Amino acid sequence: MNITLEIQRYNPETDGEPRYQTFDVTVDPTDRVLDALMEISRNQDGTLVFRKSCAHGVCGSDAMRINGKERLACKTLVQDVAEADGATVRIEPLRHLPVQRDLMVDQSEFFARFRAVKPFFIAGSEVDEKEYRQSPEERALFDDATKCINCSACYSACPVLEKNPKFLGPAAIVQAARFVFDSRDKGLEARLGILDTPNGVWPCENHFECTRVCPREIKITKLINLTKREIKKYREARGEQTAEPKEDTQ
Ligand code: SF4
Ligand code: FES
Repeated sequence: MNITLEIQRYNPETDGEPRYQTFDVTVDPTDRVLDALMEISRNQDGTLVFRKSCAHGVCGSDAMRINGKERLACKTLVQDVAEADGATVRIEPLRHLPVQRDLMVDQSEFFARFRAVKPFFIAGSEVDEKEYRQSPEERALFDDATKCINCSACYSACPVLEKNPKFLGPAAIVQAARFVFDSRDKGLEARLGILDTPNGVWPCENHFECTRVCPREIKITKLINLTKREIKKYREARGEQTAEPKEDTQ
């Protein structure tokens, strides 16, 4: 089938504003959008910039907006976004991150927030001499959160980040949840300095956009709500207040 890709182009060194450029490509319906981009890059315009690595949905590097929705180009079949022969498919970079060039965004801020939640195992003061034991039920509590590939799709889709760029964002909270709900980890207190702040977990308004776009089908909104509940439980047990903004009852 023949399709047209309408791709957002932008070179910050030479362009005042992003613009759209169209490319006609011949593809099989079962080709992936990444195949169409590779075809353009190899045979039509070698200056088109996009990021990809594994091409199998593992590395998370080719997240972009395809027809307005965050997807991995390597996991999106042409037939799922192009209704018929002659269809136009719009390709744009992720939102909420600066565009470095065309479809490639700068993920520095995304990874800074990832690091801020201390995404590593924090042992308690009493370290056991024996191996840490964990039941399958305990493991199941954080299993979903281990699946993240840091693609930034949820960060781009989040309506709260649209109005509050300082919100920690869904992916960083998923990373925190991976350890907060690990029975071996004792680092909640150390993570509260970022999670239990006005721009930590509390701004989430349950839009579910992150959950809808996650290519790993992580139940992100649920994890955010579980993390909020865990923080409340922790603060209440110590007679402390959370940083959750109080409802305005006036
Ligand atoms: S939570 Fe899902 S959408 Fe967000 S960065 Fe991880 S894999 Fe991507
Ligand atoms: S190229 Fe690795 S996830 Fe798509």
